[in-house]
Amino acid sequence: MPVITEIEDLRRIYARRVPKMFYDYAESGSWSEQTFRENSSDFDKLYFRQRVAVDMDNRSTRTKMIGQDVAMPVALAPVGLTGMQCADGEIKAARAAEAFGVPFTLSTMSICSIEDVAEHTSAPFWFQVYTLKDDDYMQRLFDRARAANCPAIVITVDLQVLGQRHKDLKNGLSAPPKLTAASIANMMTKVQWGLGMLGTKRRFFGNIVGHAKGVTDPSSLSTWTAEAFDPSLNWDRIRQFKKMWGGPMIIKGIIEPEDALQALNVGADAIIVSNHGGRQLDGALSSIRALPAVLDAVGDKIEVHMDSGIRSGQDALKAIAMGAKGTYIGRAFTYGLGAMGEQGVTKALEVIHKEMDISMAFCGHTDINTVDRSILHIPKGFSGDWET
Ligand SMILES: Cc1cc2nc3c(=O)[nH]c(=O)nc-3n(C[C@H](O)[C@H](O)[C@H](O)COP(=O)(O)O)c2cc1C
Repeated sequence: MPVITEIEDLRRIYARRVPKMFYDYAESGSWSEQTFRENSSDFDKLYFRQRVAVDMDNRSTRTKMIGQDVAMPVALAPVGLTGMQCADGEIKAARAAEAFGVPFTLSTMSICSIEDVAEHTSAPFWFQVYTLKDDDYMQRLFDRARAANCPAIVITVDLQVLGQRHKDLKNGLSAPPKLTAASIANMMTKVQWGLGMLGTKRRFFGNIVGHAKGVTDPSSLSTWTAEAFDPSLNWDRIRQFKKMWGGPMIIKGIIEPEDALQALNVGADAIIVSNHGGRQLDGALSSIRALPAVLDAVGDKIEVHMDSGIRSGQDALKAIAMGAKGTYIGRAFTYGLGAMGEQGVTKALEVIHKEMDISMAFCGHTDINTVDRSILHIPKGFSGDWET
């Protein structure tokens, strides 16, 4: 096994082992990719305040996210097509999260179905919901998540329409991949990936195929999204979903304080400050820059989480120091999965945990629950000094 010391090591191996179509799908942002890039580079503008001669023994990163015990405040974000990055990918990622003691979030657009993941894991996982026009399908989705003992749902509100990622269109992204001369030539070089895919029956959208009506081509992500997703989603409908589900609801995809207040108003139990990893509105603020204004707007009235751009335990620690109660990683665990399956996801979590733990100690803290903005140097105007 190669020596892995950072998430970038996993990304490099992932790039070699997974077909280009799926690597590009993960490693892209929309349009010019400005927001995708700034999600990560804006973390570098925050500096830590190093402290010395503080007792750094007996450290703990254990805390809670929506009342659930977690080994560190880092959950796995919902990532569509995870089962195309590696055969049975959602099951493998969920198992790694369970063993590590962090939440796994299953995407509506997963390859392994809700039932499949429930059957192959024992820790309860969160289920991410995209809102579709078909109300019967939505009700069944909630019923299925309930039957699988999912303790919370994550409603994603920033994907009524799909941001354009140029490479997905050029590559003809689909699940399973369409067989063209270029895709076959590329897949032939990904032996381990190919053997895994030949050995599994899970190659289609497990929560969609056989469950949603009127879908003509579920393999094509962009066509299917345009057909089935509900562009008219509004706050009343989200309130209705809360009733249909009847349990804890996390709203994902908030960047602006006004929307955070709306989420509070419809009864969300937590919100995720997120721009979908820079995959939707290019030119939106990075999540880490958007976070402080959202926190100021909602205060302690709701738990605030964040994602987008986290590639290290230091990034996650900065988000926690800013005031987030939890963070999520999307690409960072996907790199691990594509590189080395379940073991790779475990490795990604270990790397992030170690970086978080050691950096916390350097900042003079032994308990993640005591970390706050005082460990950071925050440049003036970091959150923006805008005209409007
Ligand atoms: C390949 C990929 C697929 C994604 N699919 C979904 C999805 O199905 N549902 C969702 O709510 N978010 C989805 N996201 C967004 C992630 O949940 C998360 O917001 C994002 O990955 C965070 O940014 P990061 O990748 O920089 O950590 C996806 C992200 C990626 C990279």
